Amino acid sequence: MKKTTVLDIQRMKQEQKKIVMLTAYDYPFARMLDECGIDILLVGDSLGNVVLGFENTLPVTMADMEHHVRAVRRGCKQALLVADLPFLSYQVSPEDAKRNAGILIKHTGAEAVKLEGGENMASIIRALTLIDIPVMAHIGLTPQSIHRMGGYKVQGKQEAQRQKLLADAAAVEHAGAFAVVLECVPASLAKEITQLLSIPTIGIGAGPHCDGQVLVIHDLLGLSGKFRPKFIKQYAQLEDIIKQAVTAFISDVRSGTFPDKEHSFT
Ligand code: KIV
Repeated sequence: MKKTTVLDIQRMKQEQKKIVMLTAYDYPFARMLDECGIDILLVGDSLGNVVLGFENTLPVTMADMEHHVRAVRRGCKQALLVADLPFLSYQVSPEDAKRNAGILIKHTGAEAVKLEGGENMASIIRALTLIDIPVMAHIGLTPQSIHRMGGYKVQGKQEAQRQKLLADAAAVEHAGAFAVVLECVPASLAKEITQLLSIPTIGIGAGPHCDGQVLVIHDLLGLSGKFRPKFIKQYAQLEDIIKQAVTAFISDVRSGTFPDKEHSFT
């Protein structure tokens, strides 16, 4: 089984093969998704929302990321492993960014980092790529900017925003990013950016024209409660299945049906 590298991901754009990325936060999910043949596993800072129960991604720490990336590393044999840099781990200075990205590469086994921002983060992307840390950029709706954006809203609808996103996309490519996530942007703009850039675009809520697609695994499997924005396609409703199983277990134990002879030692 061949290990996927950033070069493979970039080649996929040239060969017009769709890149498929999913998030993972622990060993069992990493193992299952890897065995399915996923191209990229992302330990996203969506960890904060879907696993740690925070309202947004801002409280996620480097310690949280290190802990979860290590677990995912153990299950990830073939996919490219990308780790998110959490809020405030890279924005303050290039030195902070290098140290924290370096920790994720050196101590957790991540093979690339992802960070949010366009033109404003170009110098940080440049600083990381100059020390050979591959960077996936993330523009459009950037959840770490939730307070500035005033909510989770589609970005790039007005002409000024559209121009800004085109400039952001060009800036991250120029700074050395190997790929860029486009989150919640109109499909026509995502298409334009995808045609403009030589690095792959990976869309989430960005329509069908990107070079690849990403979803949060909990959203795809129906494990995110009532959270269901328009761009999410649920491929299973695991929450219902889990609740049915747990309700049956509670009932069996309370009624004395479990454990029975079959599940006991003689
Ligand atoms: O944190 C995350 O899971 C992400 C993806 C949604 C791209 O950034």
